[in-house]
Amino acid sequence: MTADLIHRYAEGAKVEIKTLHGEGRATLSVAEKAQVTFRRLSVIGGGDDGHHFEIGEGALARGMAMAMRGKIPRSIRIGDNFSCGSMIINAYDADIEIGDDVLISSNVSIRTHDMHMILDAETGAVLNPAKPVIIEDHVWIGESVKIMPGVRIGRDSVIGIGTVVTRDVPPGCVFAGVPGKVRREGVTWRK
Ligand SMILES: CC(C)(COP(=O)(O)OP(=O)(O)OC[C@H]1O[C@@H](n2cnc3c(N)ncnc32)[C@H](O)[C@@H]1OP(=O)(O)O)[C@@H](O)C(=O)NCCC(=O)NCCS
Repeated sequence: MTADLIHRYAEGAKVEIKTLHGEGRATLSVAEKAQVTFRRLSVIGGGDDGHHFEIGEGALARGMAMAMRGKIPRSIRIGDNFSCGSMIINAYDADIEIGDDVLISSNVSIRTHDMHMILDAETGAVLNPAKPVIIEDHVWIGESVKIMPGVRIGRDSVIGIGTVVTRDVPPGCVFAGVPGKVRREGVTWRK
């Protein structure tokens, strides 16, 4: 059995799915003139309603490897004028929200879950639960950046090449390094 996909593609939208995996349900909503290439799309669970992926007008997303997983329906929402070279995006048991005018370079990863659990050895409590990721409007994410669960990236910020984002990023800053730190403040950027 393969995933059950409901397609809602607006006029002029183009979607290519090279490999589809999983047994689950999802709706793909693609706005006018958006172009999306999924090199891999994995859909697991989602219940009767299914997970939800949406991408806004004029988006150009190449090389997306995307997984949506969880019993409860999860959503990945991406705004207008999105641009992406290649990324792996994993929404496991939590949602991902990306604003308008966001630029993502190549080899970027965004995840809501560590995939395996770390437990308190005495109580068995899960120490690394899934957490949502939010990227606000007009953020530039450089090459090979890793965005970890629970992070919010503020508008107009720039994330430097190779950064691991483990904490919230304030708006209007350059944030870089492993782990990432604020390197400049009071900035914006343009293409
Ligand atoms: C983020 C970036 C644009 C910042 O440029 P900048 O504002 O001119 O920053 P600077 O080079 O002046 O560096 C400022 C400080 O941050 C540090 N820094 C910058 N980028 C860093 C990175 N990726 N990792 C670790 N530290 C970094 C610098 O070492 C410097 O630290 P210091 O003040 O202690 O010397 C640039 O570093 C970068 O990552 N460019 C590549 C972007 C990319 O991936 N493009 C692909 C096409 S989308």
